[in-house]
Amino acid sequence: MSIPASLGGWVLALILGLFLGGAPSWAAKVPNAVPPDETYSGEYVEQPIEFPHDTHAAVNEINCLYCHTYARRSSVAGIPPTSKCMGCHSVIATDKPRIKKLTEYWEKRQPPPWKKVHDVPDFVHFTHEKHLQRFVFENEGMQVEDVAEVCAFCHGDVKSMTVAVKVRPLTMGFCRRCHEANEGPFDCWKCHK
Ligand code: HEC
Ligand code: HEC
Ligand code: HEC
Ligand code: HEC
Ligand code: HEC
Repeated sequence: MSIPASLGGWVLALILGLFLGGAPSWAAKVPNAVPPDETYSGEYVEQPIEFPHDTHAAVNEINCLYCHTYARRSSVAGIPPTSKCMGCHSVIATDKPRIKKLTEYWEKRQPPPWKKVHDVPDFVHFTHEKHLQRFVFENEGMQVEDVAEVCAFCHGDVKSMTVAVKVRPLTMGFCRRCHEANEGPFDCWKCHK
């Protein structure tokens, strides 16, 4: 079944969930923790090319994991190589200034020098893999197409962002609150090397 994006979809998911006897299917969809009420607005980070997440992830429905391939199996999520962009942009929107700039980097064989938006201190150990395994791949109520909902817990609604910005605090309290609600590890050494 595809993503219950519309209200109708949610109602359908609810009915299906009840019909199947167990908890409604949405119960297991998103991480089990009250979403943080604080919102942390990070500084605007100037990028070599303003990359519109909304155009790709929302309008063209490209899955986060198509570009951030490593998230499911390693500590980092990874920024896609230019070759992946050029798979589309050797033919799509080639006349647009930003795509011309992208093509220049590609022809010089230089990756655009993307700057970090999220960066926890070096003494913190974080890994995408464990979180994605737990909340997506081992989560029966979650479809891989909906992975953005899990990313959103820590990154906000990137899907609607024109340029990625930090909107969640990623502080110790933020991490621990979710660990507490989902039986994640509490030992200091799990998060601090
Ligand atoms: C077409 C490829 C593509 C898709 C699809 C895509 N991204 Fe990205 N993402 C990028 C690129 C390129 C950057 C680096 C530029 C930037 O930070 O704005 C990036 C940056 C990010 C960052 C900031 C990284 C940092 O430095 O902290 C986050 C978070 C992120 N993406 C999350 C997502 C999520 C969540 C989705 C799905 C809703 C998604 N991305 C879909 C290409 C993509
Ligand atoms: C699966 C195909 C696909 C991939 C892969 C892809 N894009 Fe796009 N991109 C699009 C489409 C479709 C548009 C919208 C084009 C339009 O509006 O004419 C777009 C638009 C853009 C724009 C806005 C252009 C403008 O000025 O209107 C930028 C910048 C961009 N892409 C950069 C990238 C970068 C950087 C990557 C690699 C990280 C990437 N794209 C990967 C399909 C893709
Ligand atoms: C449990 C919280 C959490 C979830 C869920 C999460 N991230 Fe992250 N993400 C982080 C943290 C923390 C960092 C900063 C890591 C660092 O500084 O070493 C980060 C960094 C990133 C970065 C930049 C550095 C890198 O790892 O490549 C990208 C891109 C990114 N995340 C994309 C995603 C995408 C896409 C998803 C969903 C598939 C996702 N994240 C899910 C917490 C999370
Ligand atoms: C959305 C809820 C959630 C958030 C937010 C979250 N975590 Fe987790 N984390 C978990 C859960 C649940 C596990 C246990 C996963 C498993 O082992 O199945 C986990 C596991 C981990 C692990 C793996 C420990 C091991 O066994 O190797 C580390 C490290 C970690 N988290 C660090 C962090 C840090 C650092 C942050 C904040 C930047 C954070 N987490 C934010 C839910 C979360
Ligand atoms: C779930 C992950 C996680 C666990 C468990 C955890 N921490 Fe942290 N800790 C963090 C993160 C993330 C930061 C960075 C906060 C920031 O950048 O604001 C941090 C920062 C710190 C700092 C730096 C000072 C500060 O408050 O920013 C100290 C000291 C610290 N932790 C000690 C501990 C001790 C002692 C324990 C065990 C009781 C512990 N931590 C358990 C994630 C964790």
